[in-house]
Amino acid sequence: MIYAAVLGYGTVGSGVVELLDRNRDKIAKGVGDEVAVKYILDVREFPDSPYASLFVKDFAVIEADPEVAVVVETIGGVGVAQTFTRRALEAGKSVVTSNKELVSEFGCELLALGKEHHACYLFEASVGGGVPILHPISVCLNGDELTEVYGIVNGTTNYILTQMIQNGLSFETALRQAQELGYAERNPSADVNGVDTCRKICILADLAFGKNIAPSTVRTEGIADIQMADIAAAASIHAHIKLIGRTVRGEDGRIASYVAPHVLLMENLLAHVEDVFNGIVVKGGATGETMFYGKGAGKMPTATAVVSDICEALRRCRAEAFPHWEMAGEEVLADPDELVNRWYIRANMDHDEAAVLFGDVTVLQTDENGTAFLTGPMSGFACAEKLEGVDALAVYRVLE
Ligand code: HSE
Repeated sequence: MIYAAVLGYGTVGSGVVELLDRNRDKIAKGVGDEVAVKYILDVREFPDSPYASLFVKDFAVIEADPEVAVVVETIGGVGVAQTFTRRALEAGKSVVTSNKELVSEFGCELLALGKEHHACYLFEASVGGGVPILHPISVCLNGDELTEVYGIVNGTTNYILTQMIQNGLSFETALRQAQELGYAERNPSADVNGVDTCRKICILADLAFGKNIAPSTVRTEGIADIQMADIAAAASIHAHIKLIGRTVRGEDGRIASYVAPHVLLMENLLAHVEDVFNGIVVKGGATGETMFYGKGAGKMPTATAVVSDICEALRRCRAEAFPHWEMAGEEVLADPDELVNRWYIRANMDHDEAAVLFGDVTVLQTDENGTAFLTGPMSGFACAEKLEGVDALAVYRVLE
């Protein structure tokens, strides 16, 4: 019998306990031994839970128990979650987590700490919820030189945008539903303002390019400023506005990462990713494009990724195969405005003025909200230069 301890009995933590129980036999076959939860750590009381006898309040009990091989950290944040993660790794216990804040801020150090103590630190559930994406990037696509990763990686904002646009729900109602469904962060402003997407794109960049990209270096914009006029203009060509996290490695090795709403033309498969679903595109020199799709948030999809990592930790530790990336300096960071793409612009100007400024443009709509048009490909710098002195009401990158 192999024992796990679960820290934090919230949405994901309770899903992990339930799934380990429900899929006990299958997990035992995959790991080569039965896996059971020995402790659940939470400051709250759960007297009616079928697992009530497993609850403890003191992490030292878990830390000191040699039978606990894997610690599941589903507390969230970078406070006690970080302290307990460090203590568990130092005690030689593998740690598995869904905590994207901790991984994006301190993953590089925690991986090194784990390696030092022959313990795994695994976090598949931190990006994409139930969508396998980190393991495919670091293992299955390891043979390729990756050049770009971009995608819809926040289920809450995608759910809100879908419900507002397709079902006419208000922002507040759609957000409340996302909270009730267990998609949103405890403080949903991290979803809405793009911070959650920023953390996830950092983790994707870290693994894809092997360099630590700190969230504080990533320009981040959320969905709060998206206007109905732009949603309607995009819809006139069956395009969709989506919140995208993107990281690109140039030929000089520098990495540009950012989070912003984009206009996705209908040819782009991500334009059709709706509700809580996430979609992530990975580009490699040899593979070309690979796309990953599935439920990006919610109790059981996320718990599945955590439980799969528990099994992986138990297998990997035996082989001493630890993933890692290295700390990186400023020289690695590129400005996203260097990236070239078409642009969606809505501005107080007519077709002729747009054509004088941008050359060949595709006009989507002209009405009291201004003229909405698509430009040809140009860098963010070139676009900003052309827009100097212009009353631009919306400017989004276009993904085709
Ligand atoms: N709040 C996150 C989301 C949860 O909506 O995507 C999954 O990481």
